Amino acid sequence: EVARKVDALLAKMTLEEKVGQLTQLGNGIPGPNKETTDELIRAGKAGSVLWTVNSDDIARMQRVAVKESRLGIPLLFGFDVIHGYKNVFPVPLAMAASWDPALVEKAQAIAARESRVAGINWTFAPMVDIARDARWGRIVEGAGEDPVLGAAMARAQVRGFQGVQPGGADRVLTSVKHFAGYGAADGGRDYDSSYVPEVLMQNLYFPPFQAAVSAGAGTVMSAYMTLNDVPASGNRWLLRDVLRQQMGFKGFVISDAFAVESLIKHGYAADTSDAAARGLTAGVNMDMASNTYMKALPALVKQGKVPMRVVDDAVREVLGVKFRMGLFEQPYGGDAAQRDAVWNDRAARAATREAAQRSIVLLRNEAKALPLAAGVKRIAVIGPLADAAEDIKGSWTVEGSAKAVSVLEGIRARWPQAEVTHAAGGDMQRLYPLPWDAAEGKPAPKRMTDAEMQAEQARAVSVAQQADTVVLVLGERANMSGEAASTASLALQGNQQALLEAVVATGKPVVLVLLSGRPLDISWAATRVPAIVQAWFPGTEGGHAVADVLSGAVNPGGKLPVTWPRSTGHVPAFYNHNLTHDNDTGPHFTSRYATSATSTPLYPFGHGLSYTSFAYADLKLDRTTAKAGDPVRVTVTVRNTGAVAGDEVVQLYVHQRAGSAARPQRELKGFQRVSLAPGAQQQVSFTLGRDELKFWSPVTRAFGVEPSGFDVWVGGDSTATLHAEFTLTR
Ligand code: IFM
Repeated sequence: EVARKVDALLAKMTLEEKVGQLTQLGNGIPGPNKETTDELIRAGKAGSVLWTVNSDDIARMQRVAVKESRLGIPLLFGFDVIHGYKNVFPVPLAMAASWDPALVEKAQAIAARESRVAGINWTFAPMVDIARDARWGRIVEGAGEDPVLGAAMARAQVRGFQGVQPGGADRVLTSVKHFAGYGAADGGRDYDSSYVPEVLMQNLYFPPFQAAVSAGAGTVMSAYMTLNDVPASGNRWLLRDVLRQQMGFKGFVISDAFAVESLIKHGYAADTSDAAARGLTAGVNMDMASNTYMKALPALVKQGKVPMRVVDDAVREVLGVKFRMGLFEQPYGGDAAQRDAVWNDRAARAATREAAQRSIVLLRNEAKALPLAAGVKRIAVIGPLADAAEDIKGSWTVEGSAKAVSVLEGIRARWPQAEVTHAAGGDMQRLYPLPWDAAEGKPAPKRMTDAEMQAEQARAVSVAQQADTVVLVLGERANMSGEAASTASLALQGNQQALLEAVVATGKPVVLVLLSGRPLDISWAATRVPAIVQAWFPGTEGGHAVADVLSGAVNPGGKLPVTWPRSTGHVPAFYNHNLTHDNDTGPHFTSRYATSATSTPLYPFGHGLSYTSFAYADLKLDRTTAKAGDPVRVTVTVRNTGAVAGDEVVQLYVHQRAGSAARPQRELKGFQRVSLAPGAQQQVSFTLGRDELKFWSPVTRAFGVEPSGFDVWVGGDSTATLHAEFTLTR
């Protein structure tokens, strides 16, 4: 049915109109002959527009497309709705720390509804790039370092945004990105080259993409960088062999912004025509913002350099997605009253609070420093981020998103009887001035001078001295994590380390709350501050959620989706590395850095504490020998052994002892977040079948399950010790 409609429409299209469907206009970027966006749309030269948030502008452009262009094909309006639209959810790395795919699905369904009513029908999300390097700014946008957790989060987000099938009046089309290997940028520098062997692409970087494709992601975004010297946006192996043939993708591919034109910058394409021809033939259906296809494809087809068949096939895939998602029936967003109702839905705001509560990770809690006593009288809330109601939302938030609650405001609301005092205590600089702010005429935000920071730090120390308890809120401003925000140092910026040391020196009990989009170097604090809470960028209700956790109204249950390194020099730190001939145990010939007592992480992957305690017992396998490919069932009992209710994320890790290639020392193969009342226990089961145990072997160059001995560990983080073993035979 869809194929018939597509072919009927295609038969009516001119070459220019076909190329139009392969073009996404950057709103406001003029055409090659200085045409405005509206003029290009009216001429049928656009299939999509990006970077427009204003609902009236969107509605106007859609009317031009539907009513004034010759064929009336509706436009896709693409925008980066990454973790909320009006109501801002925690950043994706934080939501991954919930280890709760159902929660993530619900969050993205709310984000979809809020953006669709605005007229935005396509999100450039989820970002499913695996990130092993905390220096990379975009680690904040993904699910961290693990392919199994990453796949679960990818699936949940696609379902949340799109529903089961792309379509529905309150859903948006997804664009799973950035295909592929973007997170492996050299040195963690954004956009830099990635060199990734196929064994790692297949086993580490591709699985979350496969999960998103299998969940029905309508589009895929090709990445900016070169992968093994071939730009991802001109990479036929990635876009055709892997994505379409191996993964079974049926939608269409859009390049990242200007990435088709960048084929020239990469030293790959000779000129605009070469870039257009190579982008399209490699498998990029739609050119984002660079107008390269618009400029060059018509002539290339007329000269016989690009066959019309290649253009037709690419257009078919774009139109197929538009028909399947119901765009022809429902091209418009809602009216002002509908927008108002959806954007002010209290349930949505409550959902952001729940998501933030479930994303917070309690990193350290010596001598039960937390929760704070209900009757605490004087609380000093200190730090440059203590009252940062904008920064608490994190990167990629839409202008005009709901006003957020800072940590200071959250604490004031939670302890109305207490005397709550505040001092910023200093400042941190942006990593560098943002050029686009200056280009848009925005003044650089005022930052403190060194002398002002010192004076402010001294004031904060005296505020701390007057308090019974200090909550110190440190970390990063929102724009220090995200695109083009890579860092050469994970240290606390500005005077934050000095402030931390000065406040701890007062001898007052200190709770450290971190707002950040990546692990930071907190090694000093990790032995001196009794309570450390990783709140990430928790979103609109972030301040309330932090206060909920500090007070014990909510028992934290989040777990790290990334290994937490001791310092910048310990990066990349990830748990699923191979065994070496002598890891970190012997006195000398070990892989440990000679400058450090240990190379173990500060906090392992999967780590997160609770106000209660859990015990694991009765780890059982239904069989200890099976044929390779047959399932082995694992059960374990987890019990809440403390005095309060709490959540535990039960994690299952596996190691394959021998095979055609070495396998990581541990790999996550299953997880389940459970809620337990004090004294309660629950049996949790996992299946280790073909899907879980298969891997891509660089020797056989195929996926398979191999006969071997296997170790199994189950517990609350990646250092779990409860162990069992089984053997797979031929
Ligand atoms: O979706 C983004 C992408 O992640 C980075 N470049 C710009 C795109 C559109 O905003």
